[in-house]
Amino acid sequence: MITGRDERALAEAVARLNKNGNIAVARYCDVCNSESVAGLFLALKKQFKRLDILLNNAGIAGPASPIEKLSLDEWREIIDTNLTGLFLVTKAALPLLKRGATIVNNLSISAKTAFPGMAAYNASKHGALGFTDTLREELKPKGIRVVSLMPGATDTEIWEQFWPDAPRERMISRESIAEAVAMAVCLPENTSVTEIVIAPTAGAL
Ligand SMILES: NC(=O)c1ccc[n+]([C@@H]2O[C@H](COP(=O)([O-])OP(=O)(O)OC[C@H]3O[C@@H](n4cnc5c(N)ncnc54)[C@H](OP(=O)(O)O)[C@@H]3O)[C@@H](O)[C@H]2O)c1
Repeated sequence: MITGRDERALAEAVARLNKNGNIAVARYCDVCNSESVAGLFLALKKQFKRLDILLNNAGIAGPASPIEKLSLDEWREIIDTNLTGLFLVTKAALPLLKRGATIVNNLSISAKTAFPGMAAYNASKHGALGFTDTLREELKPKGIRVVSLMPGATDTEIWEQFWPDAPRERMISRESIAEAVAMAVCLPENTSVTEIVIAPTAGAL
């Protein structure tokens, strides 16, 4: 089940996925809205009964702005999406996750590094790392694996929000990120990885 707010993009993604014989379904969900999140997991439970893998991926960067120019609305939107959204989705998912399940939270190298002009994004990702570390400790006795994914610059649309001319051809591919997620999920049940940092090779961005 894939989610997002852009219903057209969701329909296109499902059509692409299902060409290969998958049974992907799409569902609208705004991670900032607790009712929308509750609706997602109600539908998921009805259709699939349980959840094996939760990938928390939704995120925004917002425009680059020094703190003195950062508006409260911009700050709130980024924290609401990247941090509160992560909390809302994870909390709603927990009753459906059983022993052997995996949660992968797509953070960023911004979870441990500060980039000037990106205070709200950096703060949201640092907070998301604290949340993820706590979640891992709480879920250890239940046998649920919790992985922090920390990619560096990756070639996706997010760059349009704060650096439209960024040299995306030098960035990590989105396929590489997907492969790292698959690796974390496919580890044997008695094995885990806590953090995956993905950096471009020397010379790249
Ligand atoms: N690209 C990078 O360099 C990079 C590096 C490290 C980490 N990351 C992280 O990777 C994750 C994915 O970002 P991306 O780079 O793939 O950017 P992207 O192409 O802009 O994708 C962001 C995704 O988040 C969804 N989203 C945003 N707000 C949402 C909301 N309120 N509710 C539900 N879905 C929402 C978007 O779907 P809709 O617009 O349809 O809602 C979209 O699918 C983010 O958490 C980002 O911080 C990115």
